[in-house]
Amino acid sequence: MMNTKIKTLLTLGTTVACLQSVQAQTQGNSLKSAYQEDFLIGTALGTEHILERNEKANQLIKKEFNAITPENIMKSQLIHPEVDRYNFSLSDKFVDYGLKNQMYIVGHTLVWHSQLPSFVHKISSADSLRIFMKEHIKTVMGRYAGKINSWDVVNEALNEDGTYRKSIFFNKLGDSYIKEAFELAAQVDPKAELYYNDYNIEQPAKRKGAIALIKKLQENGVKINGVGIQGHWSINSNNLKDIEDSILEFSQMGLKVAFTELDLTVLPNPWDLRGADVNQRFKEDPKMNPYKDSLPDSVQNALANRYSELFKLFLKHKDKISRITFWGVDDRHSWLNGFPIPNRTNYPLLFDRALEPKKAYQSLISLKESK
Ligand code: XIL
Repeated sequence: MMNTKIKTLLTLGTTVACLQSVQAQTQGNSLKSAYQEDFLIGTALGTEHILERNEKANQLIKKEFNAITPENIMKSQLIHPEVDRYNFSLSDKFVDYGLKNQMYIVGHTLVWHSQLPSFVHKISSADSLRIFMKEHIKTVMGRYAGKINSWDVVNEALNEDGTYRKSIFFNKLGDSYIKEAFELAAQVDPKAELYYNDYNIEQPAKRKGAIALIKKLQENGVKINGVGIQGHWSINSNNLKDIEDSILEFSQMGLKVAFTELDLTVLPNPWDLRGADVNQRFKEDPKMNPYKDSLPDSVQNALANRYSELFKLFLKHKDKISRITFWGVDDRHSWLNGFPIPNRTNYPLLFDRALEPKKAYQSLISLKESK
């Protein structure tokens, strides 16, 4: 006869096993697993995430995301502060974090007019600027060759009307800096996927410019794998048709389409500022910060609906989309609390300030459950 104590233990064992399996299922219920057949789900990591300072955030990142982009630490100002000095301590940790957690690692970004080290602004000759650009690509990309899966090689080279931005690179080197950067990147790490990344390129005029820029590379036999549409939008943006047209047009050119910096501001924007020019700044004003203490349900719902509409469209074209990356982990750390007006309380992401999932998160999970 089986001893009662053993029986109890066995029953307890079964209960524990059941609980563990329920737990495993809930753990399985994450963004990355819900969308695993569709596209990668990424997030942008800040220093606090790379250093694993907050265990709750760390668990959340590992559970929900299978792709990572460094929000700032690989920009030239930080990684290459002086002409012959690089600072790789955080970027090494970032790459190690991705490798140890089997994540798809994105390098952001090699050639960009913003967040440049101050010595670059002092460069006067075209030759010296070209040397800076090339050394930078060779050194940074070379260090992580075979480890970083994809690079935003050139970031934001266009104006809103689709013409070339008069950046320091364009002014000194002409538009051929783009070709030179991509050619070199293809040599330095032949396995890495190479992307052109920009905001507002879903909008018709700028999209036309992006198509022309990329066609020129393709016609010259230069390797480019994909285009990154940043996706800094608003809960009020009415741009689904533009987004769909862009997915179709870019993919017809043989490119992968990624949404690389997705976030949706819920705050007012009376200056009609569109896009994400990081150099645009406006003054503080209480009227512009209406949800300082909490977010009304109506806005929370609008955010969830808007994310849901976007993801319905992304799923419709999942065969053309490689990755959707959110620009940050949670609302507290979003850059949109400080841009384009400082010190606001914004709610653009899927996780709240306590790192709890918002209604928008649930809406993206249920989109897959109802399939
Ligand atoms: C932003 C970061 O989120 C901020 O922390 C920083 O102060 C400015 O840059 N387009 C890009 C990103 O490609 O690198 C920018 O990131 C947002 C716009």
